[in-house]
Amino acid sequence: MVKGLCFEDTGLDGEVHFLKSMDPYITRVLCFPRDQCSDLHVKTSTLINDGFVYLLETGVDVHGLRLLGRGYTAVVTIAYHSKLGLGSLKLLRVDSRRSSLIREAEFMKQAEPTGLPPRVYLYRDSYVFYELLPPHECRSFTIVLNELVSSGKVNELKELLLSTLKSLHHLDCLGIDHSEINRPGGHVFYCNGLIKVIDWESSRLSRKPVNLTSFISFLLYRYKYASKLRELLKFDLDKVIKALRRYKTSYSLDSFNEIIETMFSRL
Ligand SMILES: Nc1ncnc2c1ncn2[C@@H]1O[C@H](COP(=O)(O)OP(=O)(O)OP(=O)(O)O)[C@@H](O)[C@H]1O
Ligand SMILES: [Mg+2]
Repeated sequence: MVKGLCFEDTGLDGEVHFLKSMDPYITRVLCFPRDQCSDLHVKTSTLINDGFVYLLETGVDVHGLRLLGRGYTAVVTIAYHSKLGLGSLKLLRVDSRRSSLIREAEFMKQAEPTGLPPRVYLYRDSYVFYELLPPHECRSFTIVLNELVSSGKVNELKELLLSTLKSLHHLDCLGIDHSEINRPGGHVFYCNGLIKVIDWESSRLSRKPVNLTSFISFLLYRYKYASKLRELLKFDLDKVIKALRRYKTSYSLDSFNEIIETMFSRL
């Protein structure tokens, strides 16, 4: 019987825990942050009946458990589904202030045309099963940005920012506000040339989405190497601000192109 899995990236090597075993890992993940919970049997059989076979214990150490990550709403681990294969399983914490992950999953599906969210495979109140962002392929956007800024790789920097801005403009045009793009650190990842955004639970429909504008305002003011970035791109701050103001009134392609022009035309 399989006990462990090895991947090309050893960062994903992990121990297999079959759901039907209901071993301590399964129990602690499904009852997180408690050691036990009264609905453990219901949760386990729901996952088994939905086609899940095992959880893979890998990632960062959280109170002695290895997980892909955890937040205030959920814990995220890798799961194997009999038809869909491996993916990320985001499970609602028992102490979460939210009662369901359905809203988050539906926003991710609505935002799919932008390519920003990981692909959603299955969801219920208690979980979302979606595309895995493997740590060896996906790095925090701000870390990649820091590297390009500190090494002065202007062409790669321009490419990274351009593709991010295009995707965020697309998201604005769909009328979806992710609402946490102003803090790209934990939410925006760069995966082999693709921008990926996680944690869509605070998303909302809006006639005035601020995805693009709050991302640029992060770059201009809150990013710790903002002045170095400005030096590298050589843009005129006043012109960028004026272009952003115009963009906010129409979200049109012309106003978007004007932002791009003011940010990159001096390169
Ligand atoms: N698809 C994925 N692939 C790899 N890791 C992921 C994936 N989704 C989430 N993670 C990891 O799990 C962590 C928690 O995920 P997420 O931010 O969605 O949870 P949350 O409970 O909604 O968080 P918060 O309290 O910040 O709202 C992330 O910071 C990330 O490290
Ligand atoms: Mg969240």
